[in-house]
Order: sequence, then C-alpha cells, then structure tokens
Amino acid sequence: MSITSLPPSLISTLPGDYYTDPQIFAAEQEHIFESMWFCVSRASDLTKPGSFRTYQVGRESVLVSRSRDGSVRAFLNICRHRGAKLCTEESGEVKRNFQCPYHAWTYGLDGKLVAAPNLTSMPDIDRTEYGLVNVHIREWLGYVWVCLAEQPPSFEDEVIGAVSERLGGADAIENYTIEDLDLGRRVTYDVRANWKLIIENFMECYHCATIHPELTEVLPEFKDGLAAQYFVGHGAEFADEAQGFTVDGSEGLDRIPSVADEQDRRYYAITVRPQVFINLVPDHVILHRMYPIAHDRTIVECDWLYLPHVVDSGGDSKDIERSVELFHRVNQQDFDACERTQPAMSSRAYVKGGVLVPSEHHIGEFHAWLQARLGTQRAN
Ligand code: FES
Ligand code: FE
Repeated sequence: MSITSLPPSLISTLPGDYYTDPQIFAAEQEHIFESMWFCVSRASDLTKPGSFRTYQVGRESVLVSRSRDGSVRAFLNICRHRGAKLCTEESGEVKRNFQCPYHAWTYGLDGKLVAAPNLTSMPDIDRTEYGLVNVHIREWLGYVWVCLAEQPPSFEDEVIGAVSERLGGADAIENYTIEDLDLGRRVTYDVRANWKLIIENFMECYHCATIHPELTEVLPEFKDGLAAQYFVGHGAEFADEAQGFTVDGSEGLDRIPSVADEQDRRYYAITVRPQVFINLVPDHVILHRMYPIAHDRTIVECDWLYLPHVVDSGGDSKDIERSVELFHRVNQQDFDACERTQPAMSSRAYVKGGVLVPSEHHIGEFHAWLQARLGTQRAN
C-alpha cells in the first residue's frame, strides 16, 4: 500500500501521531495550556468566600476560590511543605482556611500560610515565603481565566482580540451581556478523543449535513458545509420557518435586550484558542470549555446561559429544555464523531494524515498555529 502525494488544491492534515503521541501531548501542555490564558470556572460557581474548584491546567492542578474580600483567586493546588495536593475534591467549600490533609499546614483564603503544627519550634521558617503559589487571573464574560506563565501574554490581544476579530468588531460580543446571564444548564462530557479533534470538528461544517439533522433544519446554510467561522462577522441565518434556536424550531425565549437587530435570528460561533467555544444566538449563549486530560481524553464542560428571569421562571411555559436539547444533541453527535476518529489516528492509513477539502482549509491555519507553538513544523 502506498500513500500518494496530494493534488495541490488539497491540504493535508496533521499526521496521526499528533493525536496519539503522549510526548506531543506533553509539549502541548507546556507550550499551549500552561502558556496561554485558559478558561476555568464560571465566576458565579464560586458562590461565597471559601467556595473553591480545582482544575487540571496543563500538567498542574489549579485551585480557584473566592476569598474573603469577594475577589476570585487562583493558586497552584500544592502544599508548600512536602508537596501534597492540597484540595483533593473537584469542588467544595471551606469555612476559613485550606488545610493540607498530610501534616495540616493551613492557608488562608488569600493563600497565606497561617498555621502549621509545631511551627513555633522552627524559628527560621518564614511564613510569608511559604504561602500558596499565585496564578495569574482575569475575569471576562463572567468566567475566570488563568495563566500559568510567569509573564502572561496580553489578555486583550489573545482572548478579547480573538473574539473581536471573528465578530468583526469589539462591541458585538458585549451586546449579549454574557457576564449578566445565569447558568440554566451545564452538561459535562467525558470525550475519549484528543482535544484537537474536537477543535477541528467545531471549526468545520462539512460534517453538518451528515450528522446534525436538527441543527441544519434551523440553520439551512450549514447544509452547504461552509462553517460560519469561515467568514469574519458572519452569523448563520435561521431558517424562515424556524421560530427559535430549539430542537424542533419552535419558539425560543425572550431576546437578550441589547442584542442588535442585525444579530437577531442569527447564530455566531467563535473559537477562542486554546480551549473555548462561544455560541451566540439572540436568546441564549452556549459556552464550551475543554479540559484536555490525556492525548486521547478531553473533558468538555458546556454551559447554557440565559437571562436571569428565564432561569428563575423554572416550570412555566418558557422553559429552556428545547433549546438545551438542540445543542446537547449537537454535542453528542460531534463527540461521537470525534470518538470514532480517535482510534483510527494510530492506523497506518493515517501515518501521513488525511486531507482538508476547500471548505475546511481554515483548519490548516489552526495546524500551522499549533506547529509554530510546538516548534514541530515538519514536512507532512
Ligand atoms: Fe502538606 Fe505536609 S505536605 S502539610
Ligand atoms: Fe458539529
């Protein structure tokens, strides 16, 4: 069997080992997830002082918590004594302090070392030196973003800039008032696939006609295979007969008041590298965060955000179920496709990768970006 070279109009994908090699994954952890801004909690998940969550960011565990003054703080989740993992749960609440389960060193919500058994008998330890290690933090769109780099890149350029570039202007995202929306539903998916398969899938719509029957009913232009992300500022128009962005095209919810007329009845999709997808429709916002756990496993947390009165209204007729169901099905259809692809990445048929048809060519730009970050450009 031989793999012939491709005609010039086709671009090859990354070779299979980019999806299967733990060493490439380790390089991605270092040069991407630990170096860029990485989105973790919804700020409102940290309801009160002492609420905390832990996340794997690259190779590190990061502890995100609300401190006594109401601000959100982030630390490496590692005890400074002998390095035990400090908080072992994914989320929880402490009253006043974090206490290490090993020898009971105790840290305030601001990360300072406040107590340690028998410490007074060790006069030379400087408590201020042994606080938790701070992690850079920003809040935007009601989410907490962390960066493990010593000198973080500009948040304005890397995150906000990417969103404005896609939407064709800095204000377009503001109209959705995402920070003021409430969480209506969260579904967590444990996807047995490399994180890049999920990104690549999200970036293209060549698959939409095949696997997304409900979505293409509402967004008929997706049947043509050209992703909305292909064009700056473009939102896919709802079908004339679709009343809302719901699983059966039935009526949606109240429009977010500041959404502009030209944004009404349109769907916008944005990829914020390395691990966030933002989906905008007039009455809600769907935000995905990916947590790459291993070369073949990614946890995806998907939030459906609505106007507060919609979430409060609970059981009345304007319920959120039909809108949640639409994108939940899309997620399942997409992640099934990614899981079907992952095992084939190690096939000899994919040693040199596959091909990108013209409507997927923008994925080639993602590959070039990835290889530049890893310093792994090679002849594919
Ligand atoms: Fe945490 Fe010893 S390792 S108190
Ligand atoms: Fe899809």
